[in-house]
Amino acid sequence: MRTSKYPLVSRARSCLLAACLSAAAHGAPDAPPLVKLERPVPAWLATAVCYQIYPQSFADTNGDGIGDLRGIIAKLDYVKSLGVDAIWLNPIYDSPFGDAGYDVRDYKRVASRYGTNADAKLLFAEAHKRGIRVVVDLVAGHTSVEHPWFKDSCRQNRPAKPDFYIWSPPDSNNGDFVAGPGPRDGKYLKNFFPFQPALNYGYGRPNPGRPWEKLPSDPNCVAVREAMRDVMKFWLDQGCDGFRVDMAASLIKNDDGKALTALWQDYRTWLKRYKPEAVLVSEWSNPSKAIPAGFDIDFLIHFESPAYRLLMNPVLNRENANHSFFSVDGTGDITAFLAEYLPQYEKTKTLGFISLPTGNHDFSRPRFQGREIPDLKVVYAMLLTMPGVPFIYYGDEIGMRNLKGWPDKEGAMWRGSCRSPMQWSADANAGFSTASADKLYLPLDPDPKRPNVADEVRDPDSLLHFTRQLIALRHKHPSLGSLGGFKPLYARKNTYPFVYLRSGGPENFLIAVNPSHAATECEVPELDGAKRVASSGAETNGTNLKMGPASYAIYRTQATR
Ligand code: NOJ
Ligand code: CA
Repeated sequence: MRTSKYPLVSRARSCLLAACLSAAAHGAPDAPPLVKLERPVPAWLATAVCYQIYPQSFADTNGDGIGDLRGIIAKLDYVKSLGVDAIWLNPIYDSPFGDAGYDVRDYKRVASRYGTNADAKLLFAEAHKRGIRVVVDLVAGHTSVEHPWFKDSCRQNRPAKPDFYIWSPPDSNNGDFVAGPGPRDGKYLKNFFPFQPALNYGYGRPNPGRPWEKLPSDPNCVAVREAMRDVMKFWLDQGCDGFRVDMAASLIKNDDGKALTALWQDYRTWLKRYKPEAVLVSEWSNPSKAIPAGFDIDFLIHFESPAYRLLMNPVLNRENANHSFFSVDGTGDITAFLAEYLPQYEKTKTLGFISLPTGNHDFSRPRFQGREIPDLKVVYAMLLTMPGVPFIYYGDEIGMRNLKGWPDKEGAMWRGSCRSPMQWSADANAGFSTASADKLYLPLDPDPKRPNVADEVRDPDSLLHFTRQLIALRHKHPSLGSLGGFKPLYARKNTYPFVYLRSGGPENFLIAVNPSHAATECEVPELDGAKRVASSGAETNGTNLKMGPASYAIYRTQATR
């Protein structure tokens, strides 16, 4: 089935056979209704699509080669033109930038390279004027070694005040503990890189033989929890609309889930009272844990759950990361993705939302592994019509390429590949900056045909317009939004296409995607009477659906069947 000299013939036969075998499933009249939420979730999330901005690579206004907050403000009309509801900003705080800002030195001060706190406030206000919310990054699990809290923790004769970090004796033998810089004699626990000491929120199940493992109720841990709440309060007061929490599952150590859940429930309860419309988004990648713990949205990416890898399989530091459903060679298996996704979706759909992002600053962009613009249209046709809240990583809307082997800047390692400057126009430096090319945060894509916003605005067939259309469609039809019902209609092992139903509003939608470069076809009884909304490379004849290489189709169907 995967590859064939006569893909159309062999696929057709096998699709028809599969269709006969599963006629009961196909004929099912039960289009799921709109999901009813069991707890308060900000109303704007019902149709939300978000846009992630990596500040250093978005738009530079002072010619130093690094993007800044004034640059983001200058581009807000563009962001608005996409139709997105919110921006997630990667860390903008004062930092030595060992990990691109995920090593915070001062949580309450904007890094001078990005501007000032007043610029941040202006950004929130200008975004709000345009109906766009701004979610900031909360690096809650660790600080920089240069944070005053850590410097204080390293002193030998510390005054009697809370210790924010976890120290074991100098002779302890555990790879996650790093020898302190002195004068304090001991090793501190790191959270990610060695220069990112873990903040001490406590241990779910402390080992009595290790006195440095404290319960979350320990006064030191309570002090950390309150200090981070104070950071959240500070930014909410400046006007932000919520937080994307970095490594949200890392805060409590050695836990069976209970203490971590209690911690996030506590923050959630407080946040929803303090600013009810604010949103909590987690980098956890296990929605069935993150959402019940208190998050409104969890990214299903490359960590705990394999679901995203089975769909997109982004490249991290591995060479061969193919064989996902979006592989152009058609070697993926949508049933493997659904086996992971559906249980997570069912467990969380009445509490919050799963996000399947186009990409982010930690893994390869979708324009990679042989995927070109027509392939991205297929990928986005699915990502932007699935339940939950989609996130679009800056530049993915114009099809910026993943730049394998790009410089390891500020702890990027392989992640430089997806952090290159935004491509605004065909002008010098793609309109990103007036600095000389060697001063740019990262080199631009050198391809003379690299895509840019200005060209795509002029081209009605561009990926940019397609993305805008998908966002507009999602906003217009509740069935396609975060709360619309979801039901796979045609999903066969190692077989393309994937066809599913979104339902619950006045109209239902049937979406078919074939990311593979082989043509295929199948029977979909629900196509009976359906009307085409958008498609490329797909044809119907009654209930028969023929899909060419890299094709998609969106149909409207009757709401009651
Ligand atoms: C996840 C962030 O997305 C990543 O960029 C960072 O390096 C680590 N957490 C550590 O904060
Ligand atoms: Ca700048």
